Amino acid sequence: MSAGSPISRLWPAPSPTPLDDTELTALYGRAAGPHLRVNFVTSVDGAVTVDGYSAGLSGEPDKRVFGLLRMLCDGLLVAAGTLRHEGYNAVRLSGPRRAWRRAQGLAEYPTLVVVSGSLDLDPAQTAFADAPVRPVVLTHAAAEAPPGLAEVAELVRCGTDRVDLAAGLAELRRRGLGQLLCEGGPHLFGALTAADLVDEVCLTVAPLLAGAGPGRITAGDPGPHRELPLRHVLAATDGTLMLRYARDGAPAPGAQPGA
Ligand SMILES: NC(=O)c1ccc[n+]([C@@H]2O[C@H](COP(=O)([O-])OP(=O)(O)OC[C@H]3O[C@@H](n4cnc5c(N)ncnc54)[C@H](OP(=O)(O)O)[C@@H]3O)[C@@H](O)[C@H]2O)c1
Repeated sequence: MSAGSPISRLWPAPSPTPLDDTELTALYGRAAGPHLRVNFVTSVDGAVTVDGYSAGLSGEPDKRVFGLLRMLCDGLLVAAGTLRHEGYNAVRLSGPRRAWRRAQGLAEYPTLVVVSGSLDLDPAQTAFADAPVRPVVLTHAAAEAPPGLAEVAELVRCGTDRVDLAAGLAELRRRGLGQLLCEGGPHLFGALTAADLVDEVCLTVAPLLAGAGPGRITAGDPGPHRELPLRHVLAATDGTLMLRYARDGAPAPGAQPGA
């Protein structure tokens, strides 16, 4: 059990006691087939950042679920904007989480996948330079790589002059990265939604009014709205809510691990 604010399930069936990490892991689970899960944290009034960053929204319960979702995925998808702005470090997992992955027959670490059209990326950023697994950069045919990037990451080109996300995800799945976790940011989420590629959204609502100013968790060109049924509601004792939505046909939580 994690110290801090215990997490319980409110819906559909209230949990009689707080959830331990094994129970939380089963509630989120891995899908039985290809799956794109998106994870965001927001304020009560819908802000994507506080003082310019997501850190001000993310308390201990959110960090706990954030880490478990990383443990569950094959590929960790992040847009270049968030990678640059939030100063992403190399993806690390604790010993017990690496052991859990090995026991499931998974690679010890998920592969970081960065989506970038400009390739304005710094090969010295620790997300690349210290990565335990060679990251993938999803880009397009016309993008020119800066010196050193190809040494620290594999460039996968999908699309002629913009990143074709559907083709990119298909290529990731072909490489065995079937279970994808997207950590944002809003422009990537908006583009994935527009392309109808989002299977699941895990949304943390922090008990905080951020006030006017920050954007939403999604951005970019408008597209058609889509139904996304609620699957569970968790609450931490500090007032943090953790909501899981997945579309019909999406594999149930707790499904057997699979690619
Ligand atoms: N609350 C949260 O949970 C959360 C999570 C993540 C981020 N954030 C916040 O969100 C902000 C950054 O978000 P953002 O919306 O400005 O940027 P973003 O979505 O993180 O990144 C946008 C970038 O993604 C790349 N990209 C390439 N192909 C794309 C495509 N087809 N569709 C969309 N993006 C594509 C482009 O990179 P190139 O410029 O390299 O071409 C584009 O500039 C930061 O303030 C961060 O703190 C909050």
